[in-house]
Amino acid sequence: MQDPNNDGFLCVTCTAPVNIAVIKYWGKRNEKLILPTNSSLSVTLGQDELRAKTSVAVSSDFNEDKMWLNGKEQSIENPRIQNVLKEIKRRARKRLSDSENEADLLLKHVHIVSENNFPTAAGLASSAAGYACLVYSLAKLYGVQGEISDIARQGSGSACRSIYGGYVAWEKGKADDGTDSYAVQIAPETHWPEMRALILVVSDQKKDVGSTEGMQTTISTSELMQQRIQGIDKKMKLMTQAIKEKDFPTFAKLTMQDSNQFHAVCLDTYPPVFYMTDVSRQIIQLVHSINDSTGHIKVAYTFDAGPNACLYLLEKDVPLVVSFVQHYFPSSTMHITGPAVSEYTLTSDDL
Ligand code: DP6
Repeated sequence: MQDPNNDGFLCVTCTAPVNIAVIKYWGKRNEKLILPTNSSLSVTLGQDELRAKTSVAVSSDFNEDKMWLNGKEQSIENPRIQNVLKEIKRRARKRLSDSENEADLLLKHVHIVSENNFPTAAGLASSAAGYACLVYSLAKLYGVQGEISDIARQGSGSACRSIYGGYVAWEKGKADDGTDSYAVQIAPETHWPEMRALILVVSDQKKDVGSTEGMQTTISTSELMQQRIQGIDKKMKLMTQAIKEKDFPTFAKLTMQDSNQFHAVCLDTYPPVFYMTDVSRQIIQLVHSINDSTGHIKVAYTFDAGPNACLYLLEKDVPLVVSFVQHYFPSSTMHITGPAVSEYTLTSDDL
């Protein structure tokens, strides 16, 4: 950390990858603290593309806290942003209380500038990367150490998983105050070097029903959701084992089945929530016909709260799958990526 007596400018810039769940989070037991009804598991993805970039800066020249997202000023009064800021400052205050000079850092106003290099709110985990990035950079700026995924969780549930690279579980926890609801890395990004994700953007439109609203309606109306919740712990165990053993067919089958069950639960919501489109369903059919025609499970699909597909596959099968996708979906945009981590840089200047 820089000299706390320096009255100038202190800035941290961080980039954080998205994450795409293979066991989906859907439903909260506590809306304010963002505590989930089930555990979930994802792969943190996006080596160059599909990342959020956030700079957070403090300066004695700033008169108020401010925030910009993708070049447009946003209200910093957003309750989720405020929850994150309060929690970071509370932990920083604890650490800095011994030094009056250092505590000055907390009195200065903060400016936040964030951008995504992919469509925002189109079911491509933009809020996950965005909040993970914000919390990661604020923690570096204020010198907050230790577990921070529980702070990212209070910005957007799925964001807690983007704090770690590679294969990450979000343990739902039992405590009412959320102290045991955080992310745990089950394998690093280097564990399975052959793993690839092919993100197929079929629409960059903002979704009609956001995840927060969609899952609230599911919790209050879907009977199928109860059955889903009961089966999740077993799936988490099987998925963790498949990842540790690099067992692609099991990983892929569980991924597809969980995506299908999640969208079935959305259909069982009243009124129903449709995230997949006809094109999404055609992608599902294509994946099954590739797997059937080769006699092996070579590729898996998963869809979040939007029509865009994430296909998981191994590096050796990328040419085959890409050629099929280009043939059947010539107008879709493809991003080929793999497991990744968050990164940061620190700069300061006497202005
Ligand atoms: C379908 O994390 O966006 O992507 O906690 O309300 O911000 P909030 O929801 P969010 O929901 C993500 C849902 C999902 C599944 C997943 O990522 O696990």
